[in-house]
Amino acid sequence: MVATTHGGGRVELRGLGVRYPNAAQAAVHDVDLTVEAGEFAVLLGPSGCGKSTLVRTINRLVEPTAGTVAIDGVDVRERDANELRRGIGYVIQAVGLFPHYTVAQNVAIVPGLLGWERARIDARVDELLRLIRLDPAQYRDRKPRQLSGGEAQRVGVARALAAEPRVLLMDEPFAAVDAIVRASLQDEIARVHRELGTTIVFVTHDVDEALRLADRVVVMNAGRVVQTGGPDELLEGPADDFVRHLVGVDAETRRLALERPLIER
Ligand SMILES: Nc1ncnc2c1ncn2[C@@H]1O[C@H](COP(=O)(O)OP(=O)(O)O)[C@@H](O)[C@H]1O
Ligand SMILES: [Mg+2]
Repeated sequence: MVATTHGGGRVELRGLGVRYPNAAQAAVHDVDLTVEAGEFAVLLGPSGCGKSTLVRTINRLVEPTAGTVAIDGVDVRERDANELRRGIGYVIQAVGLFPHYTVAQNVAIVPGLLGWERARIDARVDELLRLIRLDPAQYRDRKPRQLSGGEAQRVGVARALAAEPRVLLMDEPFAAVDAIVRASLQDEIARVHRELGTTIVFVTHDVDEALRLADRVVVMNAGRVVQTGGPDELLEGPADDFVRHLVGVDAETRRLALERPLIER
């Protein structure tokens, strides 16, 4: 049985703004958003609307120019940035596995930095490989070049979960894999979320992916949050023309598809 996270992981953004140096407009403007502990929130919006900028303020890869970010009530600026990042999983599209490290060594990076004992690290690596359905005996000693794109992305997820983070940030993690592999990775992350109860902030520009995965969808446009709500709320009551256009004319088809999901929710 995989160790569950220790509860917690509530993310609160208050009056959040980011303006990059010399930019004409703010990349993120006046965002108020609470992601509850254990919630699967999906940021959805077109390219350039500020999704990546927003998630990167959570692990301090981007420093806000206005407002605050707090995790479980503690302002992230009060935390050492490196220590903060070790407690927050981060998965991006380009997996960024170290090519000369084995799968096991890649997964073990953060536990190693945290000074876990060898036996505990080995056990955790095997546990995580089983969680993401890669047989440890077969995969532990492989190098990233010996993995398919989907397998590499799974290892990226395992690495992000290694030190039992309360919060997992996923920025378009499955955008580079083909549709069939993407569906199976979506299935995996939904199952991992059910089993671990980790708070997940997941970024996508793919409406179907958002509706399929989210407890709550956060729709962004031009740096602002324009609507938050469950998939059904979005389909039944889009807040404005932008959201209506985004979820599309075939909203009814999507709603029916959600009633018979491809994955168990
Ligand atoms: N490091 C950066 N420096 C300056 N501008 C940036 C930087 N990163 C992103 N931007 C700009 O901020 C806006 C939002 O970008 P981003 O957060 O990457 O959007 P998304 O992830 O939704 O595609 C865009 O206009 C982008 O060009
Ligand atoms: Mg982005």
